[in-house]
Amino acid sequence: MEWVLRPAQGLRGEFIPPADKSITHRAYLFAAAARTPSEIENPLQSHDCEATLNALIQMGAEVRRLSGAAIALYPPTEWHSPAGSLDCGNSGTTMRLLMGMIASRPLVAELQGDASLSRRPMERVASPLRQMGATIEGSQAPLRIRGGELEGIDFVSPVASAQVKSAVLLAGLRARGTTWVREPELSRDHTERFLSGLGVDMLRRPDGAIGVEGGAEWEGFRIRVPGDLSSAAFWIVAACLVPGADLVVRGVGVNPTRTGLLKVLTQMGADLEVLSESSAQGEPVADLRIRFRSGLRPFKIEGEIVPQLIDEVPVLSVLATQAEGTSTLRDAAELRVKESDRIASTAEMLRKMGAQVEVHPDGLDIHGPVQLGGTRVDCNLDHRIAMAAAVASLIAADETRIAGAEAVLTSYPHFLDELNRLRVD
Ligand code: S3P
Repeated sequence: MEWVLRPAQGLRGEFIPPADKSITHRAYLFAAAARTPSEIENPLQSHDCEATLNALIQMGAEVRRLSGAAIALYPPTEWHSPAGSLDCGNSGTTMRLLMGMIASRPLVAELQGDASLSRRPMERVASPLRQMGATIEGSQAPLRIRGGELEGIDFVSPVASAQVKSAVLLAGLRARGTTWVREPELSRDHTERFLSGLGVDMLRRPDGAIGVEGGAEWEGFRIRVPGDLSSAAFWIVAACLVPGADLVVRGVGVNPTRTGLLKVLTQMGADLEVLSESSAQGEPVADLRIRFRSGLRPFKIEGEIVPQLIDEVPVLSVLATQAEGTSTLRDAAELRVKESDRIASTAEMLRKMGAQVEVHPDGLDIHGPVQLGGTRVDCNLDHRIAMAAAVASLIAADETRIAGAEAVLTSYPHFLDELNRLRVD
């Protein structure tokens, strides 16, 4: 599918972002592993989360769609090995978290993915799970896993990755003894918050490691999934780019391990206002107002803030093209193993639109301000590149074409409808 987008004269209105993708995946997995049924209100209905749900159904979970956007999930009465291979589509979270679930049960499963997912590193999860006692063939999809009885380990992850951390903790919940995970910087902590909310004791060591005891059990739960800041990010940044823009976002998750974008925008001098803040099921939620302001300062992103904005780099890079000076990003080599190599694909997209960008092994330098021009961008099976390009199109001099735009179905199926609703022509 190719989108053809024109520049906008303004952006105005209120929006509710789609439900948080990370929390939806975890809600499905923790509901399937619970002793009794759960109700999940407002789950993200997108290809990535459907992949997780379908895999759980293939292993014995049952799902009933309730009225409104809610589902009831019944845990398997008996887990069984899936008959066919589990299709994780484009979703790294699906594949990595399922690896932890399957490794700790007497199941045999094959996990496969699309061309993008099949290129991504799985050894970072396979290796600790093997140390715990699982048998895993392959270091990239397709993977074959034979799970069973595991031993707890003390794992030091070489990367700050919530997917790695969560996969090992999921396995640890059914392993003998205690399982510890330490990461170089804190990645998103939805798993820890979710498990604490379910009454599971989360252990913490002075060196920052978190741990779980094997054998934890929990009852089914009710959860309402908050809005996804990583999806709202496209409109928040768009409002910083389009002269006269004024947007309000309602009910967006503002977990501090996810709000690097808001911290960077504040440093850049953006007009960002927190209208209200509350909390739901252990996750902070806010309403925000964002208005255009000219003369934004460039950003300098490095170190521990990187995991807090890891999914927002493509769209923040679009904003950097309009800042007054050179923005720099470092310590972000993880971007090279996302749905695409996001250092390369962000640079390619921006250069095609006329931006001045230098590529580093672990980041980018982006020189602003420049007038962007329209072009044709291929989003390389990467939803966030497609949506970042769509945001750039709002301030381009002419028409922008985005090839492979169906990639947005993985996280934001109604993105284009929302764009058409919020834009002023
Ligand atoms: C996710 C964690 C992040 C993020 C991804 C979702 C999660 O990946 O990029 O979109 O739900 O745990 P890493 O943890 O591998 O950095």
